[in-house]
Amino acid sequence: MKKLFALILALVLALTLVGCGPKGTSLADIQKAGELVMATSPDFPPFENLNGDGSITGIEVDILQIICEKLGVELKIETMTFDSVLPGIKAGKYDVGVSGITVTEKRMKNALFTDPYCLAAQAIVVTEGSDITCKADLDGKKVSVQTGTTAESFCMEQGYEVSSFEANTDAQNALFRTGDGAVDAWVIDDLTAADMVKTYNAEHDEQLVILDEPMTTEPYAFAFSLGSDDLVAEVNDIIAELIADGTIKAIFDANNAPYTQPDN
Ligand code: ARG
Repeated sequence: MKKLFALILALVLALTLVGCGPKGTSLADIQKAGELVMATSPDFPPFENLNGDGSITGIEVDILQIICEKLGVELKIETMTFDSVLPGIKAGKYDVGVSGITVTEKRMKNALFTDPYCLAAQAIVVTEGSDITCKADLDGKKVSVQTGTTAESFCMEQGYEVSSFEANTDAQNALFRTGDGAVDAWVIDDLTAADMVKTYNAEHDEQLVILDEPMTTEPYAFAFSLGSDDLVAEVNDIIAELIADGTIKAIFDANNAPYTQPDN
């Protein structure tokens, strides 16, 4: 009798665990819907950029288009601020977070990441003539970052005085503020820094400078909800194929961005 009771208890416990586990998105789910809904903050060129005509283009849009073709579904893009992307995935509102997202231990608790497809780093941007010339000069200084990014957590860990902005362009513009809102440097991922600074410098007299000191290593990947294991396995196979056959490198080349391959 005792044994039977123990068995029933074990069974109930096992069923509860299975029932409570994260459901995630399956390959069958998206194929049934006919689309993969991607959540993105399109203020991160060359990865995703909102153009004047309302279209969203960039390296990650190109990669996701190919992934969707191979999965036999349409790509649907939903835009939002960066700090809403991962919460939206966790809540099951979208299928995949695609936003130059760096894989971190902390984020892995709330999302299932694909294998990384590239590596980036944090960079320091200052105005021309600034007396900040290297990372050590940032001690005790005020820096701008985008809210919810790894730049924000990194700068906080370093003990800098951090000013966070929801929009990346506002973090950039903070470099030109005076008085209370003024910042000494802007910290942002290197490839986006290169792209945004190039555009800015072409359009303005005052110039921005990227310091030659990459900080941190940022593996970028796509974020699905926990439990989306079969779909992520499928996407990982596609990523491996696109890295191996040079497709991803070619997409970076076409966007004038240097490519650093992760060793997955
Ligand atoms: N790689 C950084 C992070 O994961 C910044 C990403 C910002 N992305 C964006 N689309 N604005 O936190």
